[in-house]
Amino acid sequence: MKEGIVGVTGSTGFVGRSIVKKLLEDRWKVRCILRKPDGGEALKKQGVDIYKGDITNKPSIDKSFFQDLSYVIHLVGIIKEVDTQTFERVHFQGTKNVVDLAKEAGVKKYVHMSALGTRKDAKSKYHSTKWKAEEYLRKSSLTYTIFRPSIIFGPDDEFINTFIRIIKLSPFVPVIKGGKLQPIYVGDVSHCFVQSLTNTKTDGKTFELGGNKQYTLEEIIKLMMKVLNVKRILIPIPSLLMYPPAFLFQNVLRNPPLTLDQLIMLEEDNVCDMKEVEDVFSFSPLPLEDALKQYLG
Ligand SMILES: NC(=O)c1ccc[n+]([C@@H]2O[C@H](COP(=O)([O-])OP(=O)(O)OC[C@H]3O[C@@H](n4cnc5c(N)ncnc54)[C@H](OP(=O)(O)O)[C@@H]3O)[C@@H](O)[C@H]2O)c1
Repeated sequence: MKEGIVGVTGSTGFVGRSIVKKLLEDRWKVRCILRKPDGGEALKKQGVDIYKGDITNKPSIDKSFFQDLSYVIHLVGIIKEVDTQTFERVHFQGTKNVVDLAKEAGVKKYVHMSALGTRKDAKSKYHSTKWKAEEYLRKSSLTYTIFRPSIIFGPDDEFINTFIRIIKLSPFVPVIKGGKLQPIYVGDVSHCFVQSLTNTKTDGKTFELGGNKQYTLEEIIKLMMKVLNVKRILIPIPSLLMYPPAFLFQNVLRNPPLTLDQLIMLEEDNVCDMKEVEDVFSFSPLPLEDALKQYLG
């Protein structure tokens, strides 16, 4: 067993499950904090200790989660606002609560999940609140590493799997025209997070993460059709045409399929240079095509 305990937030999510798996493979002692601890059965079976807490509500957080904790991996984030789960509360207030408690507990290091496109003057609320969270962490006295991944893919992701379902069900596939993406494999993201716990070269640094290639959404969909060996008619849609339906969706539906904030993000390029990351973390990103062949082929 490695020395020190790693506390993970957001561990039941798509990325969290992969990071916890990697931590356990690397023989770390892991504890997780969940809003709904009954959802933690699978984690408990793997030897993970479960604590209760909604990170947006400081009094609800079981403070013993932070007791004798060496490292924090903070992953909680949302892509759409639902009820009280607003970007401000989850990304900023939630991070502030975790940073403050980690600081009080004197953890050795805090590793933070942000997102590519996060910047001071970001147009989307998703990115501007991620920026506020990053800034709060940078101004704290904690030793930290921040990661900003592009879209993350894996066998049970949301993004790629939504398009796979559409391709399988429909002869037509809508393609919103937008910027370039650089999808990165969830296993590569997990590798970087876990490495950064003990790699002091990563202290105080912010790393952008992307895959080995940049694609438009249309190129990604064509790649999926190639791997699935099917032909579909693509319907290109200018993003401006999607603003009225997105406005309607988010004002009428509790869980809208598309929001204005997502449209703003889709319009932007979401790409980065991976040279430094590949050197520091000694890996080459798994190509999207190879991964799709592995789990779709
Ligand atoms: N997926 C991507 O392509 C991508 C790309 C770049 C960055 N990211 C970032 O990576 C992180 C994880 O993404 P993901 O795709 O794994 O998201 P996800 O599947 O939606 O998982 C989110 C996790 O956060 C937990 N959570 C949400 N609100 C919480 C709260 N108030 N208190 C405690 N836990 C809460 C969820 O648990 P519940 O079951 O309680 O809801 C879940 O475990 C996010 O910060 C996201 O912004 C993701």
